[in-house]
Formats: sequence, C-alpha cells, structure tokens
Amino acid sequence: MTRFAERTAFVTGGTTGIGFATAQALIAEGARVVVTGQDAGRVAEAGRKLGNQALAVTADVTSAEAMEAAVAKAVAAFGTIDVVFANAGIALGGPAGDTPTDVVERMLATNISGVLNTVRAVLPHLAEGASVVLNASSVATKTVAGVGVYSATKAAVLSLGKTLAVELAPRGIRVNMVSPGMTETPILGKFGMPPEAQAAMLEGVKAALPAGRVAQPDEIAGAVLFLSDRRSGYVTGSNLIIDGGQNVA
Ligand SMILES: NC(=O)c1ccc[n+]([C@@H]2O[C@H](COP(=O)([O-])OP(=O)(O)OC[C@H]3O[C@@H](n4cnc5c(N)ncnc54)[C@H](OP(=O)(O)O)[C@@H]3O)[C@@H](O)[C@H]2O)c1
Repeated sequence: MTRFAERTAFVTGGTTGIGFATAQALIAEGARVVVTGQDAGRVAEAGRKLGNQALAVTADVTSAEAMEAAVAKAVAAFGTIDVVFANAGIALGGPAGDTPTDVVERMLATNISGVLNTVRAVLPHLAEGASVVLNASSVATKTVAGVGVYSATKAAVLSLGKTLAVELAPRGIRVNMVSPGMTETPILGKFGMPPEAQAAMLEGVKAALPAGRVAQPDEIAGAVLFLSDRRSGYVTGSNLIIDGGQNVA
C-alpha cells in the first residue's frame, strides 16, 4: 500500500502505544517516519522495530531547543515534512482540587507546551498541503472524576488546534485533533494514583463504555491516517472522537 509514498511524517511520542502504532501504519503505507521519545532506550528499540524507513530521535517535548534539534535531524534525513502527529503526552491522575503543583506543572509542560514546541519547530519545514494532527483525549469533552488536570490540558489542545487550523489555512496546512477514549497502551499503568483508586477509576470508565471494550492503538492510528491523507483535504479544525461512544452516553 502506498497512500503515503514519498511523504515524510514526524511523530512525537512514537516509541510506544498510539504513536508507535501510527508510525507502523504510516510506514506500511509507504511513508518515511521520524519518531521521538524522551527515553533513549525506548527510542533505540522503536527505531530497530520500525526498520529502515524510520529515524528514531531522543528529544524531550518540554524543551523547545530539543524539538528544534529533532526536527533539524528529520529534515536533514528526509527533507520537508508532510505529516505531523503531535502525540507525546502523559496522564497523571488525582482529584483536580488536590493535585500537587509539580504534577500539574509536568502535565502542562508535556501536554500543552510540548505540543506548542512541536508545532513551532516543524512550522518552517512543512510542505504545502501538510497535515498536522494533535492528540487530545475523550476526556477533553467528557467529565471523568480523577483526571481533571489531565482533561484540562487536553481541552487546551483542542482550543490550540482550532486556532492553528485558522492561522495555517492560508499556507494550505490542515490541523485536526483526535480524541481517543481509553486505549490499551502503557499509559494505563502510569497514572501515579494509589493502585485501588486507579483500578476503580479505570473500571468505572470501562463499565460505562457503550462499545463494551477499550480501544486498541491501531484503531486510533487509522483515524490519524485518515486525517493525514489528501482524501480528507477539506477537513480542518475538526476533532475526531474515537471513544466507543463514551462522549455520547
Ligand atoms: N491510552 C489512552 O487511553 C489515551 C486516551 C486518550 C489520549 N491519549 C493520549 O495519547 C498520547 C499517547 O499516549 P499512549 O496512550 O500511547 O501512551 P504511552 O504508550 O505512554 O506513550 C506516550 C509516548 O509519549 C512519549 N513522551 C512522554 N513524555 C514525553 C516527553 N516529555 N518528551 C518526549 N516524549 C514523551 C513517551 O516516550 P517515553 O516513553 O520516552 O517517555 C511515549 O513515546 C498521549 O498524548 C495521551 O494523552 C491516550
């Protein structure tokens, strides 16, 4: 399959979970893909698994300089960038009114500044007709107790994406968002809540899902590829919710 032949994609947080599945799907469709992550070991492993159509780069999204350096490596290897998936993110739980300041700051820095650092770094190198997809979350629009600060960072991503869609339209660049529901990735083990509280929160969400199951990463990747494909060329500023019905229940 060659839907993305001769095209270059830049995927932040592409070493595990949704980002890795998206990188795999893009490569299967012919793209050259640059993946980033902050952990050098996971970056190297992802590079090995993705093969010779991929370049894996260690870069912390919270650092504007690191993102500029990562994009410079991508451009040196593959030229201008056609597809961006600003996906890197963290989810730390706890009551919104009782989340420690350092946890709040880590989430703001990764989930909001990280997206901005990525977009700012890639902007000068985007090809005409490029597609940018930002990874938000179903909880940006659906209230779930226990993940309030995370939800707020993802609501900010939706707002940012809508503005970017308007600002970049004159360059022929589309910006859309995906909002996954609960997806089986390593993130589900990283909430940092007391184990019983975390298990209760996850079980509560699962029990209320109309689809009766959580998503698999390749189901989110499929939506990212749709929004990155020229055949969705008139879709911009949209938020594609992929949550098994969670938001409408
Ligand atoms: N899984 C879900 O249920 C779900 C639902 C809605 C939205 N999302 C969103 O989907 C995105 C991907 O999450 P996932 O579920 O696939 O989780 P994941 O497997 O934990 O993947 C997160 C990715 O982001 C990277 N990352 C985290 N902090 C980073 C930083 N400071 N700099 C660079 N890379 C960083 C990780 O790399 P390292 O391992 O090197 O840190 C990893 O590659 C996140 O934005 C998340 O909020 C997930």
